Amino acid sequence: MAKVKTKWVCQNCGYETLKYIGKCPDCGNWGTLVEEVEIKNTSSVSQSVVIDDSPVCLINEIEITESIKSSTGFAELDRVLGGGLVQGSLILLAGDPGIGKSTLILQTAGNVCSQDKKLLYVCAEESGSQVKLRAQRLNVNSDKLYVYSQTNLEAVINQIDVIKPEILVIDSIQSVYTSNITSSAGSVSQIRECTNLLMDIAKNKGITVIVIGHVTKDGNIAGPKVLEHMVDTVIYFEGDKYKSQRLLRSIKNRFGSTNEIGVFNMVESGLEEVTNPSELFMKERTDSATPGSVIIAANEGTRALLVEVQALVGKTSYPSPRRVSTGVEYNRLLQIIAVLEKRIGLQLSSHDVYVNVIGGIEIDEPAADLGIALAIATCFRDVVVSSDCVIIGEISLSGEIRNVSNIEKRIYEAQKLGFKKAIVPKQNKKLSENFDIEIVEVPRLIDAIKVCVSKSN
Ligand SMILES: Nc1ncnc2c1ncn2[C@@H]1O[C@H](COP(=O)(O)OP(=O)(O)OP(=O)(O)O)[C@@H](O)[C@H]1O
Ligand SMILES: [Mg+2]
Ligand SMILES: [Zn+2]
Repeated sequence: MAKVKTKWVCQNCGYETLKYIGKCPDCGNWGTLVEEVEIKNTSSVSQSVVIDDSPVCLINEIEITESIKSSTGFAELDRVLGGGLVQGSLILLAGDPGIGKSTLILQTAGNVCSQDKKLLYVCAEESGSQVKLRAQRLNVNSDKLYVYSQTNLEAVINQIDVIKPEILVIDSIQSVYTSNITSSAGSVSQIRECTNLLMDIAKNKGITVIVIGHVTKDGNIAGPKVLEHMVDTVIYFEGDKYKSQRLLRSIKNRFGSTNEIGVFNMVESGLEEVTNPSELFMKERTDSATPGSVIIAANEGTRALLVEVQALVGKTSYPSPRRVSTGVEYNRLLQIIAVLEKRIGLQLSSHDVYVNVIGGIEIDEPAADLGIALAIATCFRDVVVSSDCVIIGEISLSGEIRNVSNIEKRIYEAQKLGFKKAIVPKQNKKLSENFDIEIVEVPRLIDAIKVCVSKSN
């Protein structure tokens, strides 16, 4: 009989120890260590160790083999992936339960198979007929698409040798297991071992592997650090479950930039690409201007996005006023409020301030500062920024407006969507393009308030 060994494994970072301890010394989390039984099946482990015979060579002598990227059939997904699926790479798609991960991948599978590629879809959580039902609803059908309802990874590997797919999908990594170790599916040891095996398949067989992963309640992929380290690309699928729009963003990418986002719309027949997201983010906006509502031009990867920022300011009934932000970093909000108090003289210390970015999108660049400040100021004073005006600029602690990157791209996006005026930071050089839109350069926050604020009616 094989010797039974147990160990305690941190479910967050994969740290291992022989004894129970309350706090993980590696990642610092409490109570994340779980006992796992491990039986090493030595024969199969040693088999999977492949002796690599690639020679050591000088960097100058290495010839570049162009990595082959193929389209997923979704331009939005391709952009987030850095151009498409890289052959032999391992991609992790993570997201909340029910957000539409299986839908996205099944539609992608349909697209890829229509390019005459073979794909093996391993549905470890669902039966074949459940997948078929979804495929019917999404209008996906192809005789290159193989579906395999299986949780054992060894069985999957056997099928890979039979079917020889170019792309392998595992839905999801938390529900497959390898017989090499005995801890239950979903534990960190299993996830790590399975990901290792899948990495092997990707690199040695040149198969593109797409792995779906669930996100836990606190927003982490189960066994997050373990997984993120191992794979080539990590993309998150997110959005408000009660709304139809979905965002795709990459957290890590060995083949491209990580600041691109992809935008989709979930409808009855599946996910639709949103090629002009600014229109979507402003769809619900009314024509007349409201106090506390401002349009900003944010930069997401290679494109500019227009989004609405809303603020609500009201007298507080608490000992210390509340500051609540959605889509804007909390400390950033505090800083903007401090500048408004000190440089403009708004008495915000007796008021609650709520700030919300519409459309479930996170704005983490300082270019949104001026828009946020104007949203708060207009709500406080009950005035408006005209609804055909877009606001761009970073605010310094002294109340000056700092320049931002890609200013022309942002203005261009506003012009494309029919805005008449853009409030921008004072430019050092002339803007190179000729815009049809009125451009107002403002050096300080107080000037911005002077030029774009008017009485509401
Ligand atoms: N008949 C339908 N019509 C419209 N939308 C549907 C329909 N059925 C499912 N959906 C949408 O698809 C979503 C579920 O998609 P999907 O199964 O791809 O999610 P998932 O992320 O894979 O979920 P899980 O975590 O359970 O695997 C639902 O939340 C719903 O928005
Ligand atoms: Mg699913
Ligand atoms: Zn840990």
